[in-house]
Amino acid sequence: MEFSIKNGNAAKELSDCVIVGIYESQKLSDAAQVVDDASKGFIAKIIKRGDMDGKLEATLMLHHVPGMACERVLLVGLGKEADFAEKQYCKAVRATVKAVANSGASDVITFLASLPVKTLTTRRKVAYLTEATLDATYKFEAIKRKKQEGKAGAKKGITTLIVNVATASEVKEAEAGLAEGQALAAGVALAKDLGNLPPNVCTPSYLAEQAVALAKTYGFKVEVLERDALQKLGMGSFLGVSQGSAEPPKFIIMQHLKGAKDQKPVVLVGKGITFDTGGISLKPGSEMDEMKYDMCGAASVLGTFKAIAAMALPLNVIGVIPTCENMPDGRAVRPGDVLTSMSGLTIEVLNTDAEGRLILCDALTYVERFEPSAVVDIATLTGACVIALGHHASGLFSNNDALANELLQAGETALDRAWHMPMWDDYQPLLDSNFADMANIGGRAAGSITAACFLSRFAKKYDWAHLDIAGTAWKSGKEKGGTGRPVPLLTKFLLARASKLN
Ligand code: BES
Ligand code: MN
Ligand code: ZN
Repeated sequence: MEFSIKNGNAAKELSDCVIVGIYESQKLSDAAQVVDDASKGFIAKIIKRGDMDGKLEATLMLHHVPGMACERVLLVGLGKEADFAEKQYCKAVRATVKAVANSGASDVITFLASLPVKTLTTRRKVAYLTEATLDATYKFEAIKRKKQEGKAGAKKGITTLIVNVATASEVKEAEAGLAEGQALAAGVALAKDLGNLPPNVCTPSYLAEQAVALAKTYGFKVEVLERDALQKLGMGSFLGVSQGSAEPPKFIIMQHLKGAKDQKPVVLVGKGITFDTGGISLKPGSEMDEMKYDMCGAASVLGTFKAIAAMALPLNVIGVIPTCENMPDGRAVRPGDVLTSMSGLTIEVLNTDAEGRLILCDALTYVERFEPSAVVDIATLTGACVIALGHHASGLFSNNDALANELLQAGETALDRAWHMPMWDDYQPLLDSNFADMANIGGRAAGSITAACFLSRFAKKYDWAHLDIAGTAWKSGKEKGGTGRPVPLLTKFLLARASKLN
């Protein structure tokens, strides 16, 4: 999709479709007024007839509007003018993308970014519009043999989008917003693609290849550690999970070092289980295919790296991905086995399906060497988190409230929310084991909290936060697919850190 910024006149644009907004009070936005004037009251007449009430997200596609150079005019309801803020703006944008997708238009100019929106700068308005448009038009076509394009009567979808801004002096700022939105959308799309790929394609080796390819494209440092190196490091916990699989484990380290030399890095750690059968503690069969998404933490780290690399973000960021499969096998780890983690702490594996924490704990020990300013791990860690928060918010756990607040705030502005969960010491005894320093599960109650408590034992040397994305990383049912979350949250978090430091 091609994007550009313009400061033009809604009536004079030669395009397939011009998008303008109407408030619920029936007040026209400036651009809608221009259309109404050029068409001698055509828009006002339609409103009077009751075909467009201006309610938020309502849309009406008009054809052959007199006096207009374009083929169609899409009216979108903006709701109450006094309430028109960030969330309403975003909803209106998404509604227009949907309406255009249902039409034959492919060459589109939108006047939504020229609307005044409380709390949003032009840069942010354009960035969001770009992101949302690309997000809503994402299609996973890497595998399907029959592509949609070329079918008789098939809609082309948006191919060019011109984003209009209210004044010529805003064009530069809008262009920066456009670049930011495109970079973020590219990261989100990468995370979705990796999640959506089947587990026989998206293996640990495949993830490692993607990291190497990304590093080559953007010129950052990457390293992939193989089994023998992991053995030397003493990653007995990570290797324990991988030992039942025919696919070799990989440990990926990416380094985006664009901050000052002495600036301590932010480290992102992503869970990369490319398929989670549960191991010997086998999962039930229904919907087990969805466990291909158990590498979405890793995908979000790769996606975030793509976004910040495309933005050339001036910050030091290190991405670490332990990746393997969790399979049942003659060599697989058994319930009752005791593993020795890289930290030296021993772990009794009471359930081989609680494997995410077993691979992450060694990664959390490994990253101590970077003397991080903060470590954030991202993992599809527990079904319990889905029960607690559903599919709207990721679970956030942290040993540092300031860091937790930074992430919460980033989630709010990115519309990719997290919710701060408790991690009081009272929960820690649930992990007691009679045979090792700890057990890998804490029982059914507070499952997402005990999982976080387990990780916290390996993250004592730095400020650390954990995002449980089990409910947010993908959608089930008819719209089954990766969401690309929490790439927006992570990218916003890093953008905010960079702007604080520079
Ligand atoms: N990958 C799963 C978590 C998961 C489950 C994510 C369902 C999304 C949907 C994880 O490895 C797992 O199996 N966790 C167990 C932990 C339990 C054995 C303590 C779970 O949540 O059931
Ligand atoms: Mn599992
Ligand atoms: Zn898992």
